[in-house]
Amino acid sequence: MLSQYLYISTAPSLSRDDVESILATSARNNPANGITGLLLYNGRNFLQLLEGEEGELKTLMLRIGNDPRHSGVSLLSSKTIEERTCPEWAMKRMFIAESVDSRRDTLESELPEGLDSETRKMIVNFAVLN
Ligand SMILES: Cc1cc2nc3c(=O)[nH]c(=O)nc-3n(C[C@H](O)[C@H](O)[C@H](O)COP(=O)(O)O)c2cc1C
Repeated sequence: MLSQYLYISTAPSLSRDDVESILATSARNNPANGITGLLLYNGRNFLQLLEGEEGELKTLMLRIGNDPRHSGVSLLSSKTIEERTCPEWAMKRMFIAESVDSRRDTLESELPEGLDSETRKMIVNFAVLN
């Protein structure tokens, strides 16, 4: 069963290298585990969208939940999906624009088209509020 998880977590002082290293690990592991998704970091919080088989997602969420580089992992949504919204992204780093005014537009245009409106709204709100 294909599922989609969306969570946020807290990581107040990660270096650029830490974030790069998380992305490199994801790029290495995720294709082998059939995981795809996107990752946003605003300097204080992560938001991650993960898609894959339910069993693989559960296993990955356990690893992520035990990762000392962040804390307070909080699942915003988990549901089954018919198809992946971003099948070609092993783990896409999405950047939050400097200008608060342009954040919404920039992100809206970069997010996968297949995202349902609820999930899209949560991701855009995360980027705009922080
Ligand atoms: C915010 C965040 C997101 C992460 N996302 C992934 C991911 O998508 N895939 C992954 O394999 N590890 C991810 N990790 C890293 C895992 O917690 C864990 O360190 C890693 O899977 C261990 O892999 P390794 O045994 O190959 O080093 C993430 C960690 C953090 C803090």
